[in-house]
Amino acid sequence: MNEHNPTFPTQGLENAEFDPVNPTSNPTMGELISRRFSRRGFLKGSLATTAIAATVSPLALLTAEKARAQEGSVFSFAEVEAGVDADHHVAEGYNADILMRWGDPVTNDAPEFDPTNQTPEAQAGQFGYNNDYVGYVPLEGSSEHGLLLVNHEYTNAHLMFPGLVTIVDGAPQQGPLSAEQVDIEIMAHGGSVIEIEKVDGKWQRVAGSPYNRRITGETEMEITGPAAGHDRLKTSADATGTKVRGTLNNCAGGTTPWGTYLMAEENFHGYFSGELAADHREAANYERLGAPGNSYEWANFHDRFDVSKEPNEMNRFGWVVEVDPMDASSTPKKRTALGRFKHEGAESIVAPDGRVVFYSGDDERFDYVYKFITNGRFNAEERTANMDLLDDGTLYVARFEEDGSMEWLPLTFGEGPLTGENGFESQADVLIETRRAADLVGATPMDRPEDIEPNASNGRVYVMLTNNTRRSEEQVDAANPRAENAFGHIIEIHEEGGDFAATTGRWEILLQCGDPSIAEVGATFSTATTENGWFGMPDNAAVDSEGRLWVSTDGNSPSATGRTDGLWAVDIEGDARGTSKLFYRVPVGGEMCGPLPTPDLTTFFVAVQHPADGGEDWEGHGRPSYYEDLSTRWPDFRDDMPVRPSVVAITKADGGKIGMD
Ligand code: FEO
Ligand code: CA
Ligand code: CA
Repeated sequence: MNEHNPTFPTQGLENAEFDPVNPTSNPTMGELISRRFSRRGFLKGSLATTAIAATVSPLALLTAEKARAQEGSVFSFAEVEAGVDADHHVAEGYNADILMRWGDPVTNDAPEFDPTNQTPEAQAGQFGYNNDYVGYVPLEGSSEHGLLLVNHEYTNAHLMFPGLVTIVDGAPQQGPLSAEQVDIEIMAHGGSVIEIEKVDGKWQRVAGSPYNRRITGETEMEITGPAAGHDRLKTSADATGTKVRGTLNNCAGGTTPWGTYLMAEENFHGYFSGELAADHREAANYERLGAPGNSYEWANFHDRFDVSKEPNEMNRFGWVVEVDPMDASSTPKKRTALGRFKHEGAESIVAPDGRVVFYSGDDERFDYVYKFITNGRFNAEERTANMDLLDDGTLYVARFEEDGSMEWLPLTFGEGPLTGENGFESQADVLIETRRAADLVGATPMDRPEDIEPNASNGRVYVMLTNNTRRSEEQVDAANPRAENAFGHIIEIHEEGGDFAATTGRWEILLQCGDPSIAEVGATFSTATTENGWFGMPDNAAVDSEGRLWVSTDGNSPSATGRTDGLWAVDIEGDARGTSKLFYRVPVGGEMCGPLPTPDLTTFFVAVQHPADGGEDWEGHGRPSYYEDLSTRWPDFRDDMPVRPSVVAITKADGGKIGMD
């Protein structure tokens, strides 16, 4: 999800811009005004830091340390120069080829893209707008032939519809959307399953594949697990509380050990409008989610998105959806056991005893880090035995202690405060109102938890905390150590005994992000990190088959950090720990998502989300932040540039492993 778009705020459906809604941690809500670090502020700070560095850190010492750290790095590639322009850039010796773009045919009967004559029917078969999570399921173990899984998180109407934006009194104005445009938006959400293969060194979609599939905001889904069939999930269209149309705002996600595709529903509240009476059964639930979000115009044409008409419809969103990509006719399942919140992702790992552990961040300021542990055990011999593992298990929320210890607190009905006294009559209630349950057990409010990646090679877990400019000095704690945290940080969890199913552990901060040359920022990159290597706003991440950490970002921009978003390689071991290097960067306005290495490490799939978005970022770059007329604008742009939201395949020119000699 993108950071703030000042020109089209209704389309910048970014929770960074929503008020925090956790009342337990935010007594001064609305009082704190975020302070953005301007470039001018950077320069002033930079001088100050230079002066300090000269007195406390002799140059010779610094150079020796830098050399040692660079020697110890597990990454080998020539770093990209950080900066801002309209193109994308990858490290020298690598190719970055566009594999799929918004509008490209996914299903076998989809028409070619015609942006000036788009229809909901065409969009329902074509690659959706925007792309966050990227997964890859190998076919017969291959790293050159498999299924690409891509989430289509949200839409930017001002970039999709020719003529939607007009200039009134010198300022761009948008909309309103027609019924057909709203339906195109609904069809541009969801996900894609695409069979791909490498032919003569280049990846391509396999036309005619039986796996090719679009999942949209209208695809019929089943609700399963402890909350399925509960009264609070029943609507006028579904008296059973078990069937729902579509999945929305699928941000990051996951791929299970048995090869299914998990789509995490994040800012689902934004699609809903209308008002709920203050004494309505769902009032507290809605309030804790900041709902309805009123970010889209869908309720103008579809009653189910109007909470005054269908108050329970929203309870059917905010879940993790499991899709079997091996069967294009399978019904996706919303797995309620994993809880309902603004799920960033759902990455998993098999614990030593065979239970499977799923990590998920709730991306909002002052919200929480979760994990779910299945009761059943993974069966590596028989895939079908795993297909309902996600319906039975325990959901935990993290409490980070000041002394570096931590505890995973179970969210189980009847335990502790999760009883009728607090409005919970069943496990279904606990799951539908996961946030309120987590408040009551004493979870630690975090600086916007995004992607969480377990690392099998060292038994640790990496938590991306993207930023939180609303944290006051009084709200600082050891795990969220900076007030007005504009650049985010990364926490490393050491699960007890390296067992991902442990309910206790230790934690430490791997990195505080931002420009390390400015003392007041408080960044902690190693001194071996160059001026290109630091970043702000960690968002998605990947641990590759060598156990190496890669971090992609959302929110770097000319004004915030003087660079676009990108993919950085971050050392986590030895002398090089905390050293970061820029491997790839996106066009201005874009966000860097994905990232997903193939098992053999010869390809890195990355997703360029919303390139060209963000009006402030466009001046001087020769491209508009909206399209008055796509038919005249687009021919200006090269076909090999990610002008539309795109999945890009990065390969080494010599065919070798990424980031290795
Ligand atoms: Fe969709 Fe939390 O980023
Ligand atoms: Ca994001
Ligand atoms: Ca994200």
